[in-house]
Amino acid sequence: MITREQVMERLATVMDPELHMPITDLGMVESVHVDGGNVRVGVKLTVAGCPLSARIEQDVSQALSVIPEVKDVGVDLGVMTPEEREALATRLHPRRESVITAKDSKVHVVICGSGKGGVGKSTVTVNVAAALQSMGHAVGVLDADVYGFSVSRMLAARQQPVVLGDGVIVPVDVHDLRVMSMGMLVSEDTPVMWRGPMLHKLIDQFLNDVAWGNLEYLLIDAPPGTGDVAISLSQELPKARVLLVTTPQEAAARVAGRVAQMAGKVGQEVLGIIENMSYFRCPDCGEAHAIFGSGGAKRLARELGVPLLGQVPIDPQLPSGGDLGEPVVWTEPESESAQVFRQVAKAIVETNW
Ligand SMILES: Nc1ncnc2c1ncn2[C@@H]1O[C@H](COP(=O)(O)OP(=O)(O)OP(=O)(O)O)[C@@H](O)[C@H]1O
Ligand SMILES: [Mg+2]
Repeated sequence: MITREQVMERLATVMDPELHMPITDLGMVESVHVDGGNVRVGVKLTVAGCPLSARIEQDVSQALSVIPEVKDVGVDLGVMTPEEREALATRLHPRRESVITAKDSKVHVVICGSGKGGVGKSTVTVNVAAALQSMGHAVGVLDADVYGFSVSRMLAARQQPVVLGDGVIVPVDVHDLRVMSMGMLVSEDTPVMWRGPMLHKLIDQFLNDVAWGNLEYLLIDAPPGTGDVAISLSQELPKARVLLVTTPQEAAARVAGRVAQMAGKVGQEVLGIIENMSYFRCPDCGEAHAIFGSGGAKRLARELGVPLLGQVPIDPQLPSGGDLGEPVVWTEPESESAQVFRQVAKAIVETNW
């Protein structure tokens, strides 16, 4: 005879794919009916038409089929009432205290910054995050490049995030990465034309109103340079470490140096430097050609007294993977560039925070 307790015990193993908590803890299990070998479970989704409902349904069926006596599982999907969503918001984000900006925050925040645009910050952010995720860590990705958002495309995460209760935003799940980007809030062709105070408000919301959950690492893709957003980030996250991305050119390294100076002024430490587009390895002869010159990143690392964490080659898979929303770390894990991203992820984990 199947008991309700047995069913609930199995349901406690089903995680909500976006909220990363057991559906039993989230108050999503509405009803359980057992009739011989037939089990019917009522599950309340956070919003109607939740894109991940099929996955929840499947996970519930799978979890219950482990009980030997179970012959058939039926899942009835419902939707939470506004009051239930509010209660859930409070549970997920108690007292609206941010896990990121709290003084005693345990989340390791890494800001990917650069002096110039187009040097590969977003590519680095997404791939290093994917590498950390593959190593089994709980990782969030915040696209703080409000004007030039691109993380949503690079991770194929364009669905609108769920908003619970009084403005608690649930990050979008991409293969267990928790992702938040302006690209989920506006269409890709919409220009964002905001002045400083609006930008500051959005960054504040991204850091404080998003239910990031039990994260270990949050990677932030910052816009290039030392503008409004960079200032907001440095004010709100004095304990964050900065990962500087540059190309081998002297000019790029010089402007990256200015970003490091700004970090230093607010007490943020520079974790290290990643040199991107360091060389192109000829597929025929195997020789590495330094197309954009060499030495800039090494010199900057020496000047700042920080490690050069990795040199990413020019890799045609990176733009195509970026457009398809498939980081090479996941799709081409043995490629030279994926190996460098993993090496950087390892250095982040081994950092004494
Ligand atoms: N190592 C690489 N090899 C080949 N292409 C690369 C490499 N790194 C980045 N790219 C490509 O270069 C372009 C710029 O990269 P990316 O968008 O990551 O830079 P960014 O610093 O975030 O730019 P922006 O300042 O515009 O936000 C993208 O099309 C990306 O796919
Ligand atoms: Mg970018």
